Amino acid sequence: MSVHAQTNEIQLNKTWLTGSCGAVLHDVDIAKGVDQPLFEAIHGALMEHGVIFFRDQDITRDQHKAFGSLFGKLHYHPAAPGPEGHPEILIIHADENSTYSAGQGWHSDVSCDEEPPMGSILRLETVPETGGDTLFSNMYAAYEALSDRMKNLITGMTAVHSGKHVYAGRYNVSADKMVREYPESEHPMVRTHPVTKRPALFVNSGFTTHIVGMKPKESKAVLEHLYQHIALPDFQCRFHWEPSSIAFWDNRCVQHHAVFDYWPEVRHGERVTVAGDKPYYEPA
Ligand code: SIN
Repeated sequence: MSVHAQTNEIQLNKTWLTGSCGAVLHDVDIAKGVDQPLFEAIHGALMEHGVIFFRDQDITRDQHKAFGSLFGKLHYHPAAPGPEGHPEILIIHADENSTYSAGQGWHSDVSCDEEPPMGSILRLETVPETGGDTLFSNMYAAYEALSDRMKNLITGMTAVHSGKHVYAGRYNVSADKMVREYPESEHPMVRTHPVTKRPALFVNSGFTTHIVGMKPKESKAVLEHLYQHIALPDFQCRFHWEPSSIAFWDNRCVQHHAVFDYWPEVRHGERVTVAGDKPYYEPA
């Protein structure tokens, strides 16, 4: 990290994971506090890389939440109650009793919400000896790589995102104890990122159920094509976790997929999620 004396601008020391997305930011210690110039540098890196990573972050729950709050209001998960006194925290845990792990399959977090989260900040405390990586895919690049014909077809169309099939029966919460009802929302299939103004593909195999205005078979065919496209390695990076690593991803332009290849080992951590805005599309 270096500071330009005249402008107070911080140049972060970082390592790109791939040419498509993801960068590890070095020399940042969140526990020491994040002042305005450092906040701007971190936010800039998130906008540039879609997902950023930090190693060796020894922080408390309150410090984790305070870091998230710098980027916006905190989001409350619709289905998973947080630990006592911390309703904004989402526990991510898998062990020998798990038959799945949270975040398996390509998705953008809680895209079923009317205003889906802007970003998610996951810190893992316990990691398996092998495996447990998370994959990320750049949705600007995925959109850009489509043919003009396909871009024209899906731009301006909307799709429905539902939480019911994802959350029903999960988190050991009965329907009457849900934090909120299962959300369902209609979003543009291509959204304009509110900061970068770039178009990004915004359908995901986790939450998107169908395209509005298409016959079921047409909708299925188009969505399946897009899901295969999103999963191409060309748009991805892969992050290998260590204890106290943090990943911070921008749900508006990146999807992720947590690989559950470590059973029966334990993988445990906590996520703070930053609230977002209603997705929209605006021609460039
Ligand atoms: C998630 O979707 O937030 C889980 C990601 C992970 O566990 O790597």
